[in-house]
Amino acid sequence: MSEWTRVAELTDVSRRRKKLVALGEERVALFYADGEVFAFRDACVHKGKSLARGTVLHGRVVCPGHQWAFDLRTGQADDREECQPRYEVRVAEGGVWLRPAALAGSAAAAAGVPAAVNSAPPSARSAAPPSAAAPSVPFPAPPTAATQE
Ligand code: FES
Repeated sequence: MSEWTRVAELTDVSRRRKKLVALGEERVALFYADGEVFAFRDACVHKGKSLARGTVLHGRVVCPGHQWAFDLRTGQADDREECQPRYEVRVAEGGVWLRPAALAGSAAAAAGVPAAVNSAPPSARSAAPPSAAAPSVPFPAPPTAATQE
């Protein structure tokens, strides 16, 4: 099952900097940083706290449970072996799209699975958003005032 699913409006994610969405039965935390969108499984790999309630800082999300920090691009926890599962993200038609299967963090990267943030689907056979053949939609300029929640 590899269909892309539209889960949020890009303007909403960029304005709020983070957002909790549903992808089937999964809860997914979206983060907006440096003009890109990142998607993590919402339940922290440590003790399951919601990462959507965390703080985005310097390319990492800090869990509200015990302050583990996870790299937004890789899911790797600082100074630990644990890695937070991520999702491939695509931005198209003003929306944020995800695929149902989570990437397995650093194990996936080691196996050659692309980090795949904000990229086109890797396979033409994959179900993709209708605009897959169209040029990517540019991100809006980030707001000037911080909107961390
Ligand atoms: S639950 Fe996230 S650091 Fe403990």
